[in-house]
Amino acid sequence: MSQSSRLPGFYKQPVKKRLAAVAAATGLTDQEQAALFGTAGLQTDVADHMIENVVGIHGLPMGIATNFLINGRDVLVPMVIEEPSVVAGASFAAKLARAGGGFATSSTPPEMIAQMQVLDVPNPHVARFELLSQKDRLLDLADRTDPLIVSLQGGARDVEVRLIDESPVGPMLVVHLIYDTRDAMGANTVNTAAEALAPVVEEITGGRVLLRILSNLADRRLARARCLVPADELNFESEGRIFKGREVVERIVEAYAFAAGDPYRAATHNKGIMNGVDAVVLATGNDWRAIEAGAHVYAARNGRYASLSQWEKTPAGDLVGTLEMPMAVGIVGGATRVHPGPKVALKMMGVNTSRELAEIIVAVGLAQNLAALRALATEGIQRGHMSLHARQVAIAAGATGDEIERVADQLVRERVIRLDRAQEILSQLVDA
Ligand code: MEV
Repeated sequence: MSQSSRLPGFYKQPVKKRLAAVAAATGLTDQEQAALFGTAGLQTDVADHMIENVVGIHGLPMGIATNFLINGRDVLVPMVIEEPSVVAGASFAAKLARAGGGFATSSTPPEMIAQMQVLDVPNPHVARFELLSQKDRLLDLADRTDPLIVSLQGGARDVEVRLIDESPVGPMLVVHLIYDTRDAMGANTVNTAAEALAPVVEEITGGRVLLRILSNLADRRLARARCLVPADELNFESEGRIFKGREVVERIVEAYAFAAGDPYRAATHNKGIMNGVDAVVLATGNDWRAIEAGAHVYAARNGRYASLSQWEKTPAGDLVGTLEMPMAVGIVGGATRVHPGPKVALKMMGVNTSRELAEIIVAVGLAQNLAALRALATEGIQRGHMSLHARQVAIAAGATGDEIERVADQLVRERVIRLDRAQEILSQLVDA
């Protein structure tokens, strides 16, 4: 990216000007820009080959989160989502974090886990030892299933064996094949490897392999982000009430403690994180169900469902946030190869590896969490939501073009965000 991701006034510009600014900053060609209009470049004949029984294409808005500074690099982040306030929230929080140096991120190698369920094993403990002693043979066989990934320095890394003593069908062995899938999400690669290994696992254990499938608890493929927000950045005033930054830090830490201690709150807290995460996952054509599944099991990894993020006060009184979660995303294969929209989204972010993408996504999740907590712990969430919600209500009432802002402004002024009132205002506008 050729310039800062700070784009003051970006939100006030018309769509075409915004896209031109993003294109200039990230080097998008005319064709790539055109791909973002309408169906994001997805033609019905291509869609027809992506899934079954296709009858059409479903659209969602793509917005750009600004202000992100990640490991010292400016990034404009494409987000695909239907919910108002999410893109604005991420951009706002990224600006707060920017004042503290931006986001620092890291990740583990992109290792996926494929599971094999082994039943009817005569001597499970002995079979476990036997599998482990023949690890090299298993890894070698797994490597031969995807020479391309191996040539890219990926491939089979390890074999782990667990014994589940008690199950409704008796003891079972669970074999994990750990496989570095490089820049692919890797579901197909690891499922193929597990299927290839199954007969050998049966031979070694004397058992019967039933399931051979990846685990969405991708806890070998973690991404991490942290940020520091100087307390002074959190000073603000809302409807005549002054919130001092240091007080806001305390309130955010208290709000986090609620999510750390209560699963009912943790579910909503983590949903806020996933607002940011899923929007980038979707924009890049990745499997958001896989990410959701992994995130929530990871949140419960210590035996109780809890917050995925942590917020603390530093000795100097500033706010520091951390987020670690599984992030099995790819930049090659799947929809990223056939759908032009995700290709453009990846180019905008300038990512060269799946790890870079994973780290950006986690930074956005942390930003989204910060935006929600700051609002919830001070003025409440509704005030910020109101004007965006009002626009949607105005559109639902039939407003178009300029009418949308005029009807929405009136709804916000009256603090009545209702469809019937929007319809009344609109008919007055039309009559005038
Ligand atoms: C709404 O989509 C997300 C929030 O509920 C997240 C949270 O409560 O932390 C605002």
